[in-house]
Amino acid sequence: MKIILASNNAHKAREIEHMLPTGMKIETLREVGYNKPIIEDADTFEGNALIKARAIFSEYGRPCMADDSGLEVNCLNGAPGVFSARYSGEGATDEENNKKLLEAIRGKEDLSARFRTVIAYIDKSGAEHLFEGCVEGCLTTSPRGSEGFGYDPLFCPLEFPNLTFAELSLEDKNKISHRSRALHALTAWLSSK
Ligand code: IMP
Repeated sequence: MKIILASNNAHKAREIEHMLPTGMKIETLREVGYNKPIIEDADTFEGNALIKARAIFSEYGRPCMADDSGLEVNCLNGAPGVFSARYSGEGATDEENNKKLLEAIRGKEDLSARFRTVIAYIDKSGAEHLFEGCVEGCLTTSPRGSEGFGYDPLFCPLEFPNLTFAELSLEDKNKISHRSRALHALTAWLSSK
């Protein structure tokens, strides 16, 4: 079986394929020739993942999946949430987003936060399935580490409370990350089918 991934990230596609039951393959949007823009304007991760998966399913009528992730900070009522990539504006860099986040949490006592991923999977009958993965942790008050991307330098997971995601190896991050947990939930479900 082939699953279309609503992304052009070949690296992500191979990583997911690696975790799937034998015989299942992932195709990227580039591989299937999809190049229309998809507007992700929902106010939840679930909503955005579904928008992407539905756009692909309506074009191809084949199994497809899409993910949406972000950082939720408790003292900011869940912000930046679905705006994580563009917290400090459209096309913002990771550094700009991190700077804005540090300003927003200055002086706050509760620095607890989580990364969350939702994967929407649409099967060949058109039935929609959602899978979620979270990693809980705490923000730091200054960036540390050089691995990873996004808010990694500001986030210490509960599993490694003294290290930021950007100070962990990719292998250690992948063991506990929101993305890998959501993916495990999907692949466990697919394997049980
Ligand atoms: P996406 O939906 O996976 O593209 O994630 C949206 C945004 O959330 C990214 O651009 C990052 O700002 C943030 N984000 C998601 N996952 C991570 C992560 O593992 N580390 C750091 N930032 C992340």
